[in-house]
Amino acid sequence: MHLDTEIDDQIELSDPKIALVTGANRGIGLEIAKQLASKDIVVLFGSRDLSKGKRALESVKGDDLQPIKLDVTDAGNVDRVAKTVKDKFGRLDILVNNAGILLDETDYPSKTDLDVATRTFETNVLGAWKLCQAFIPMMKKRDYGRIVNISSGAGQLASLKEDLYAPAYSLSKASLNALTIMLARELKGTNVLINSMSPGWVRTDMGGSNAPRSVEQGADTAVWLATLPDGGPSGGFFEDRKRIDW
Ligand SMILES: NC(=O)c1ccc[n+]([C@@H]2O[C@H](COP(=O)([O-])OP(=O)(O)OC[C@H]3O[C@@H](n4cnc5c(N)ncnc54)[C@H](OP(=O)(O)O)[C@@H]3O)[C@@H](O)[C@H]2O)c1
Repeated sequence: MHLDTEIDDQIELSDPKIALVTGANRGIGLEIAKQLASKDIVVLFGSRDLSKGKRALESVKGDDLQPIKLDVTDAGNVDRVAKTVKDKFGRLDILVNNAGILLDETDYPSKTDLDVATRTFETNVLGAWKLCQAFIPMMKKRDYGRIVNISSGAGQLASLKEDLYAPAYSLSKASLNALTIMLARELKGTNVLINSMSPGWVRTDMGGSNAPRSVEQGADTAVWLATLPDGGPSGGFFEDRKRIDW
């Protein structure tokens, strides 16, 4: 039974890596979670609606998959999940901050509804930030961690200069990138590696059906960053496994 932050007792606690993916019940997050699970990683499928997470899991094979209720805007929920993970596994090896929203209805920052901007930042920036705060101490203690922040080309400073697109969303992703840079600086010299990635334009509910990329393509770089070897890059921004400009 999977209730709120309960995790199945049957999971083997010793060897496999433990990963948490936020917003894993659909889209790119679901695909990242599936690909990690296929690498014998125990994956906690974060889903703000647990029933959606359970339904999503029906399409995935494997025993080491756990739906977990996680609304990244609910600080109490994040703290409870962190405590559950600590009590159950004693560690988290991989954190993928994937949950994101795109609510903008205008391309013009002078017209952006600031309530939309606030909600966007609460999920896309503060949510990821809170998750990092909750799990980095555990990672530092074991001197192992891989954190992947799912950003967007829309948050690239170069693209902000070229295009006007979804200001609240774009600014949130630029801020998420800045958070990646700052945390990488803080974590320098440790084996906790943190990077941002852009999945490109992907066919999901957010990306729409005209997007050129599949979820498999969108998830690939995130999975690569989530499984980097020791000594791998940290504090970078990647697309298609290559560094891109901020
Ligand atoms: N698709 C693209 O072309 C594209 C391009 C660049 C970047 N990205 C980024 O890639 C990530 C995934 O995008 P996607 O295309 O897969 O989007 P999606 O299909 O809209 O899925 C978004 C996921 O985030 C979850 N979510 C939203 N708010 C949440 C919250 N407060 N707590 C927990 N989960 C929450 C959603 O849960 P519910 O089902 O409960 O709503 C859903 O699982 C996002 O960060 C997005 O910004 C996407």
